[in-house]
Amino acid sequence: MTMLPLDAREGWIWMDGAFVPWKNATMHVLTHGLHYASSVFEGERAYGGKIFRSVQHSQRLHASANMLGFSLPYTVDELEKAKADVIAKNNTPDGYVRAFAWRGSEALGIAAPKNTIHVAIASWEWPSYYNAEMKTKGIKLKTGQWRRPAPNTAPSAAKAAGLYMICTLSKHWAEKQGCQDALMLDYRGYLAEATSANLFLVIDGQLHTPTPDCILNGITRQTVMELARAQGMAVVERHMEPAELARASEVFLTGTAAEITPVGQIDDRTYTPAAITAMLSEAYAKAVRGQ
Ligand SMILES: Cc1ncc(COP(=O)(O)O)c(C=O)c1O
Repeated sequence: MTMLPLDAREGWIWMDGAFVPWKNATMHVLTHGLHYASSVFEGERAYGGKIFRSVQHSQRLHASANMLGFSLPYTVDELEKAKADVIAKNNTPDGYVRAFAWRGSEALGIAAPKNTIHVAIASWEWPSYYNAEMKTKGIKLKTGQWRRPAPNTAPSAAKAAGLYMICTLSKHWAEKQGCQDALMLDYRGYLAEATSANLFLVIDGQLHTPTPDCILNGITRQTVMELARAQGMAVVERHMEPAELARASEVFLTGTAAEITPVGQIDDRTYTPAAITAMLSEAYAKAVRGQ
């Protein structure tokens, strides 16, 4: 995989309805989305030329925009076609796809209801979020200080840029201490999620995951719950105190980028990825390829 900075790569980005050479896909510095985070996005993965749960991602992009008070100027069908075209034109059949939308630069007041809404889609190769050793032994998490906000503090169900400010702070902090990610609690102090992935605990052979009432209800999360139930496993969505981490025999994260990533350590407690994580990883690897 090329290590060139993202803005220096070759390829094409679909921007406001047309393909633009990668390096020319720019916007003005006085863009509302940049100053006030009026921006929403999707992270998607294509496997064998087909984006997994593509329509669901396009629908979520629309829903996130609506939660931020704007509408996308392209239908789900139009986004679907554009995403397929981007993958083909960039020749990234097994790549990452980033679709996003933001308020433009006509005005820079906090209120800017007349600003135009822009949409862009890029794709590039991104084989695995974590290296092979981390994927086998599990990553290290540290419980962070920033908490997922209440639904009446921020539009917490949206995949909106503004919600990632505390994710970047938390992840930088965790990395400085030799961990790969931060475990975030929610505003009530319950277990929430990692900075870009949902959390699952195996307790007494059952799968437990936080209720998504102030966190992203990840598409991978929903898929893994379906796969587990199809294997006859009980899946429980509930609020969990951090102390429950002591009861878990396996812990893993789920997300489009992270796929299923085992967790080997949270703070001072260690975990050994075992049969259930392996079974669900295998089932997920098949599902994303339509098998
Ligand atoms: C904060 C957060 N939680 C969870 C997820 C997992 O969501 P999905 O499985 O839809 O990628 C992501 C990644 O998109 C995320 O950024």
